[in-house]
Amino acid sequence: MKLGFIGCGVISVAHVEGLEALKRNGQETFELSAVCDIQQERAEQFALEVEKRLGKRPSVYTDYRLMLAKERLDAVSVLINHDFHHTVAEDCFASGVHVQMQKPLAISPSFGRKMIADAKKYNRVITLSEPSVLGAENVAVARAVKEGLIGRVTFIIDYATVTLNRGFFAGTPWRHMKGQAGAGWINDHGVHRTHFFTEINGSIDEVFAYTEIFEKELSNGYVTMNPTAEDTAVTVFKFANGGLGHWMCATSAHGEGTGGVWIYGSKGCLRPGQHVTLLDGKKILMTELIDRFAPDIVEHPFAHSYVELWEAINENKAPISSAERGLEALGVVFAALESSTIGQPVKVQDILNGKKQAYEDTVLKEMKSILTPGPRSFK
Ligand SMILES: NC(=O)c1ccc[n+]([C@@H]2O[C@H](COP(=O)([O-])OP(=O)(O)OC[C@H]3O[C@@H](n4cnc5c(N)ncnc54)[C@H](O)[C@@H]3O)[C@@H](O)[C@H]2O)c1
Repeated sequence: MKLGFIGCGVISVAHVEGLEALKRNGQETFELSAVCDIQQERAEQFALEVEKRLGKRPSVYTDYRLMLAKERLDAVSVLINHDFHHTVAEDCFASGVHVQMQKPLAISPSFGRKMIADAKKYNRVITLSEPSVLGAENVAVARAVKEGLIGRVTFIIDYATVTLNRGFFAGTPWRHMKGQAGAGWINDHGVHRTHFFTEINGSIDEVFAYTEIFEKELSNGYVTMNPTAEDTAVTVFKFANGGLGHWMCATSAHGEGTGGVWIYGSKGCLRPGQHVTLLDGKKILMTELIDRFAPDIVEHPFAHSYVELWEAINENKAPISSAERGLEALGVVFAALESSTIGQPVKVQDILNGKKQAYEDTVLKEMKSILTPGPRSFK
């Protein structure tokens, strides 16, 4: 099947690594036959990288609509900024092309709902390439928890704070503007976490959060900007099954970052990427967990995402990383942002069905101002 990439930026190479891993395993699901980026040089360089890794140079485009019209693609992976996800997806569906979307599914929940409705309207497949629930290790962790290895999940702790020294995350100023990224790190990184939380322990019912923008100016020496997206979020939440969570996301840390996830259950503690410790002190390493719970799954999360896309198109198989689960993950993030905006706990369902959207309205307002000619906040 023929695959195209729209966007040849930071994450695109990791996707080619995924396709390369499938090729090495003799599992050739897709041929990456065309790539597109509005920056021609990026697209050309990326095409060379593809040729080096996969053995064939894809056609290069700077206009994805032209690529959709000229190439006979079966599917496209959309690898561009969050605020374009929904429009590009609709154009792909309308051209008869299936879509693999990157996280977050959309810039905000209302666009996520639209995207899922559009896929149905055009009878096309949409999957989400969410690495936190894909690949052998992540699938093993989720299956181990669901099958009761650590008993009933009582609480989860997840801390992620990074030091940017008032620069840009991944070198991208757009990630700090809510009109382009929906929110700051709690959206860009946070959806990985909320997707993972809901995958291992079911729906999150209610969320309370405080958020702040501590860094008023960010710069890399060439671009200086005043961020509109929060850089710090402290959140607590309650799962529908009664489990609790404490979750921190920040790009405002100085000197030292923090990172770690602890999943506590009635029979032990699971630390993703590290080990499980059971009541009697027995430790289980991740390699053993994979052998026990996910021997059937390819190791590389992005390789797995293309297996899921291929099986969804050809076998009508429901993916682990579905657009619906991606929307739910986005709903938890926006419940935190809504809570911080209105100063009250927020039900995730109220975000998912659009009943509460005081925070999302601020995103929509900024998106409109970006579409309108006028001064931008980048200097
Ligand atoms: N681990 C992960 O799953 C992961 C990691 C990083 C990024 N992502 C996601 O991938 C997407 C892209 O992130 P990135 O870090 O690669 O961003 P990036 O800014 O490095 O790259 C985006 C690229 O898209 C191009 N582009 C923008 N508009 C376009 C258009 N209309 N047509 C064609 N090309 C266009 C830009 O020129 C740029 O090269 C985001 O949605 C992000 O959340 C996922």
